[in-house]
Amino acid sequence: MRFFVGSDFEDSLRKTAFFILQIPLDENTRRKNLEKILVTSALTYANGPLHIGHVAGSYLNADIFVRYNKLLGNDIIYIGGTDDYGTPISIKAEEEGVKPRVIAERYNKRMKKDLDGLNIQLDNFSGTSRPRHIKVSQDFFTNLLEAGYVNKKTLNQFYDEKHKRFLADRYIEGICPHCKSEGARGDQCDKCGKLIDAMSLIEPRSKISGEKPIIKETTHWYINLPKFEKQLREWLATKKYWKDNVLNFIMSWLNEGLIERAITRDLNWGIPIPLENTKGKVLYVWFDAPIGYISSTMEWAEKKGQPDLWKKYWLDPETKLIHFLGKDNIPFHTIIWPAVLSKQKEPFILPYDVPANEFLNLEGQKMSTSRNWTVWVEDYLKYFDGELLRYVLAANAPETKDSDFTWKDFQNKINNDLNNVLGNLANRTFIFIKKYLNGKVNKTENIDKLFAENLFSSGLNNNTPFYFDNLEDISDIINGIDESYKKYKVRRAVQLILLLTRIGNRYFDIEKPWVTIKKNRSEANETLFFCSELLRRISILFTPIMPEAMKKLRKMMNLADDFEWDDIKKVPESFKIGEVSPLFKKIEDAEIEKQLELLKEGSEIL
Ligand code: MF3
Ligand code: ZN
Repeated sequence: MRFFVGSDFEDSLRKTAFFILQIPLDENTRRKNLEKILVTSALTYANGPLHIGHVAGSYLNADIFVRYNKLLGNDIIYIGGTDDYGTPISIKAEEEGVKPRVIAERYNKRMKKDLDGLNIQLDNFSGTSRPRHIKVSQDFFTNLLEAGYVNKKTLNQFYDEKHKRFLADRYIEGICPHCKSEGARGDQCDKCGKLIDAMSLIEPRSKISGEKPIIKETTHWYINLPKFEKQLREWLATKKYWKDNVLNFIMSWLNEGLIERAITRDLNWGIPIPLENTKGKVLYVWFDAPIGYISSTMEWAEKKGQPDLWKKYWLDPETKLIHFLGKDNIPFHTIIWPAVLSKQKEPFILPYDVPANEFLNLEGQKMSTSRNWTVWVEDYLKYFDGELLRYVLAANAPETKDSDFTWKDFQNKINNDLNNVLGNLANRTFIFIKKYLNGKVNKTENIDKLFAENLFSSGLNNNTPFYFDNLEDISDIINGIDESYKKYKVRRAVQLILLLTRIGNRYFDIEKPWVTIKKNRSEANETLFFCSELLRRISILFTPIMPEAMKKLRKMMNLADDFEWDDIKKVPESFKIGEVSPLFKKIEDAEIEKQLELLKEGSEIL
């Protein structure tokens, strides 16, 4: 059983038992020994639409994981939304001369549409400026305060005299005190990823007036992180299975020493703090944002007509809470968020895993929305199918280190992997069956044996680009794919699926059905049955990454849409091929040149 950090063990056990008893047992889940999982994608700032950095950082990987788990039959929900506060949104609102709420609502809608276009299917997509979230966040603050983990302090802060306001977070810029790079903001440095105490910025400048700010006294509320250190270390010691990049990041953070952090700001756009005489004080965006995962789950439950359903996930220690996010979000989710969660009145679960991704670059350069150096999903969808982007970003996911998106690589991957390898296998198999075998192939006796052994003697060796150690048979590859999805190794899943597909093409070449058909129909039937069965398995294995393309593939094979992961092993008696059309289309050089031009010109979306 997982435990709640910090609270007295017995007490938490009692609380847990109490809550569990109130939650009806989910018979189906318990019986089949299935898992209960709550997946989140980092809430995206609502100051612009979705770009490929968001997709690669925290949406596509989550969606793939969720689709895979749904196929396994696990009880899994996928929650997200927009992060509606924070200075980028008020800065944009000021630029446009509208209320911040208008900006937040606009981009919440557009982002939802962008996600739909990529077949990224969240169970709920909320926003943190909605009333429920405001109430829940205020309660979180109050609980933390009443539990004795918040201190009020008077301090000095930067103030823009011309505009008569305090300069929180991104309203102030300067040189990073840690890595000395320019353009560090008052809350965090993009270069080194460290959180910054604004007062330590070198050569501070107001972002609004561009002038040197004065220093003025104000009052804020701080979370007492040092008081959490022991419990956090103990809890993190149970997380040895987290990704290395995440653990390294956390350890360097902890070892620098935890300090008290302000969880309030002097701003007019934010959640008012629930205390008397505190006009103009709002919760720091990073305090309320992760609470959005909970309020969004509540919204989901309400929409389903079962307002208490959120408890089944958030209050049951059996639930695995998994946060997908980019690396700059690590400290907030692994230190501050679990600390806040553990001091609430209700026994909230803590993150089970935080599979953070590194960054995606674009054409060799760091992506930047302010320099308009990105690919916006809305723009992309005007030219290409969403599934293709899913494939390329999955094949090139920044899982363990930064990766690079280039249009040339996009074209190569679509033309080679999808067209020449997978599309080709499907096409040659189906056309052959239609032409020479009356559209039908029948199961052969030794199909299992074929799957188990023969193929590796047929030409795959150390020079095969996707060779890996201890590869014995095809079920090893399939297990490898299974394992990869479980461990968020989407790149590896892609490589293994491609390997399977290459095996199919190699087998087709070696067996030469165009020769055997003339002498021995049953031999040709065997070859084509094998290739069809391989494609059927691929249609399941690839579904988490390319759900629509695999639907199309299955349709050509007259296979049903409602399948589960376990069906991989269920070999049908025969395949009857339906109408055949190419699975994918090649991308021409001119199409890529066009994208490169558009990138240079800069999108007009913003
Ligand atoms: N909006 C933040 C960002 O884009 C992420 C917030 S994640 C949340 O960096 F959980 F806190 F919402
Ligand atoms: Zn820095």
